Amino acid sequence: MTQRTNDGSRRDFLKSSTAAMAGLVAAPALGSNFQVGGSDVIKVGLIGCGGRGSGAASQALKADKGVRLVAMADAFADRLDRSLANLKKSNVGNRVEVDADHRFTGFEGGRKLIESGVDVVLLAEPPHFRSHHLDLAIKAGKHVFAEKPVAVDGPGVRKVLESARLAKEKGLSLVSGLCWRYHSQKQATIQQVLDGRIGDIVAMQCTYNTGGLWHRGHKPEWSDMEYQVRNWLYHTWLSGDHINEQHIHSLDKMPWAMGGEYPVRCVGSGGRQVRTDEKWGNIYDHFNITYEWKGGVKAFASCRQWAGAAGDVSDHIYGTKGRCHVFQHRIVGENPWSCEVPGNNMYQAEHNALFRSIRDGKPINNGDYMAKSTLMAVMGRMAAYTGQAVTWDQALNSSERLGPAAYEWGAAPKEPVARPGVTRLR
Ligand SMILES: NC(=O)c1ccc[n+]([C@@H]2O[C@H](COP(=O)([O-])OP(=O)(O)OC[C@H]3O[C@@H](n4cnc5c(N)ncnc54)[C@H](O)[C@@H]3O)[C@@H](O)[C@H]2O)c1
Repeated sequence: MTQRTNDGSRRDFLKSSTAAMAGLVAAPALGSNFQVGGSDVIKVGLIGCGGRGSGAASQALKADKGVRLVAMADAFADRLDRSLANLKKSNVGNRVEVDADHRFTGFEGGRKLIESGVDVVLLAEPPHFRSHHLDLAIKAGKHVFAEKPVAVDGPGVRKVLESARLAKEKGLSLVSGLCWRYHSQKQATIQQVLDGRIGDIVAMQCTYNTGGLWHRGHKPEWSDMEYQVRNWLYHTWLSGDHINEQHIHSLDKMPWAMGGEYPVRCVGSGGRQVRTDEKWGNIYDHFNITYEWKGGVKAFASCRQWAGAAGDVSDHIYGTKGRCHVFQHRIVGENPWSCEVPGNNMYQAEHNALFRSIRDGKPINNGDYMAKSTLMAVMGRMAAYTGQAVTWDQALNSSERLGPAAYEWGAAPKEPVARPGVTRLR
């Protein structure tokens, strides 16, 4: 079987990261390099105590016997309290030690947590706030687990790239919540593509068609800002729209299969066909984007959130010698292959990798792909919102910073639904 020869260095990166991941599923041993004040305890703080944050905290606690959850931050006390109560009741409840003075709320809660003496910060707040918290955490010398996506706009992505660089310089681990990168069977499948089993890639297709997600309603006592932050999915400044918040999982696999190379431009469309009511904020409910790579390879990406319509979450890679059906872990064509690697719990694998890297003093840095895959999603949104072709450099250097200049519980940003041909590229 021939190997792809157009990008050896990038393939090597993938090989080594895949190999590194493969050995990381077992729980790390205690008594290794990491010690704080003569103790084996690793103090963890969670920012964003919702569904994913609570899951991430539990996985962190299971990854290593020495981990303690010692601080929590959420915009809202009720969200924090509920998460804390559930974690205490769980099978790792004896590792939860969050004193009353280590529970932080409001917009400044994240900063206070980072300053509260933790070693590791888990970031699972709405995407808008991630680049700011990551910046504070890395500057303060913390190891970080950062959920996806890591930003909502070009300025946010630039900030994350800088944090990733600084993390490397400081020897800090930065693990991304782009969880498929830690899934054993996806790793094995993508590796086959990188090793040339389907020949040269000519095109890719990725789809994330699902139903609707939650809406948390509106209480009369909530200010407009509280309403938006509680329903963050539906406000572009908070989530980056669902192409960024959800479809990023599919988009990320395309540059992964391309050996770390990202598209140079995209064109696309999208709109609101079903979720037209004001309660759905200003995000779209469907996108269709065509991404183009330097050598001419294209990826056709579509996503929608339409309750009651047919679902499809799948990724396909077409090459000169065959096709890879990523979710089936299967290749058909001249060199057929199907995966025999056992599946794993990718969410747990992320945390096993993070805590082992801290114990061993061998930092992991997923910063580059987590920032660039976020930009790929942001770039697609910009193309759909404006109706213009958008280049990678335009997206990366964009001056469009979403969100208010200051955060207060009162008025909220009033953002119109984007109209292609009218909404301007900034
Ligand atoms: N990797 C995955 O498979 C996966 C799955 C689900 C969610 N996610 C990601 O995880 C993140 C959280 O998603 P979720 O489903 O847990 O949402 P969620 O709404 O359940 O949790 C987010 C929490 O953050 C809190 N919050 C809001 N603003 C905050 C701020 N400024 N500081 C601190 N906390 C703040 C909210 O009150 C809420 O409790 C999102 O980025 C989402 O895309 C990833």
